[in-house]
Amino acid sequence: MGELTNRREATVRDNFLIFGSPAIGEEEIEEVIKTLRSGWLGTGPKVARFESDFAAYKGVEHAAAVNSCTAALHLSILAAGIGPGDEVITTPLTFCATVNAIIHAGATPVLADVDAKTMNIDPAQVEAKISPKTRAILPVHFAGRACDMDALVEIAQRHGLKIIEDCAHAIETEYKGKKAGTFGDFGCFSFYVTKNVITGEGGMVLARREEDISRIKVLALHGMSKDAWKRFSDEGFKHYQVVECGFKYNMMDVQAAIGIHQLARVEQNWLRRKAVWERYNEAFADLPIGIPAPVEPNTRHAYHLYTVLVDETRAGLSRDRFLDAMTAQNIGVGVHYLSIPEHPYYQQTYGWRPEDYPNAMRIGRQTVSLPLSAKLTDKDVQDVITAVRKVILANANA
Ligand SMILES: Cc1ncc(COP(=O)(O)O)c(C=O)c1O
Repeated sequence: MGELTNRREATVRDNFLIFGSPAIGEEEIEEVIKTLRSGWLGTGPKVARFESDFAAYKGVEHAAAVNSCTAALHLSILAAGIGPGDEVITTPLTFCATVNAIIHAGATPVLADVDAKTMNIDPAQVEAKISPKTRAILPVHFAGRACDMDALVEIAQRHGLKIIEDCAHAIETEYKGKKAGTFGDFGCFSFYVTKNVITGEGGMVLARREEDISRIKVLALHGMSKDAWKRFSDEGFKHYQVVECGFKYNMMDVQAAIGIHQLARVEQNWLRRKAVWERYNEAFADLPIGIPAPVEPNTRHAYHLYTVLVDETRAGLSRDRFLDAMTAQNIGVGVHYLSIPEHPYYQQTYGWRPEDYPNAMRIGRQTVSLPLSAKLTDKDVQDVITAVRKVILANANA
């Protein structure tokens, strides 16, 4: 294991700015050590505390922690009673996990193209994709920008559909004063290493109905009856019953130990990313690249991803050449995302073609995510700006 770690570390240059590297405080480190020393590493009291802290942050009663947002989505779709023969409408501009979760539940994903400006699912396209088999809409608050929830909720109500929000980018997102993840029947969050709050791997589910949260907790731990995790506590061994065929999707206390302190700094980190976002906006305004649209009034952006669009005809270099040039400048960059229909599995399974979702296709082929972590120092931010300007201006003037 040491060897593997060293080999991986050796691939990262000392002065390379790692994309999405999270801000970890001493509090997290100490809490993890305390948890390791406590002897209780698995699902336990720290997970319970993280759930209640998260529910309080979101202003709701209950939350269920799981080991990823993928698991959160999968269990939410199952708890919504959706399965084989049912269709779920989602966006083509998302991580594959969104679509895979629908498939894991046995249902059929249906894509509705995004709005070119907001990059979020376009309600008019959703409406056009509704069939007698549609059971739910699964919007993704892309990059942390709130979806048009009034329109989506109205469509869902008119057609009797569930809403399952993919809030992987959207912990701090709000729409007209209401928090992302509380519009629909279910809200699913990610604490993956690059996210705004991290636990390494981890996820959380919010649900409108308390019984859905209870069922998700059971499904996340093999289908064992409620509070089975307490079976080894100082209350003495408790027999459990397997009431469903569940999954191994539970979060560990070691993960929650990180999450508790990350969540305590969520607003502080948000302010830092907002400042970086605004600095990038100023610094790139005169360049021949696309920068994010202004934040819609009466919404709160989570500032999870800062994406620029590199259109070869305007910028004089392709997106992929830009990625390589940034890497050569020691700046880690990402692509969020090549549109879902670009991938062979979905083409082969569903016959999807990128050109049928033209906005997502174009964005997916032009987009680049720049570093936007609260960990960035002012110098890091300046390094990113200098590199972007150098690469773009060198090509614009070529
Ligand atoms: C939009 C979106 N949905 C779902 C996921 C899956 O999250 P996780 O890695 O926690 O399973 C991600 C993760 O990157 C994501 O970005």
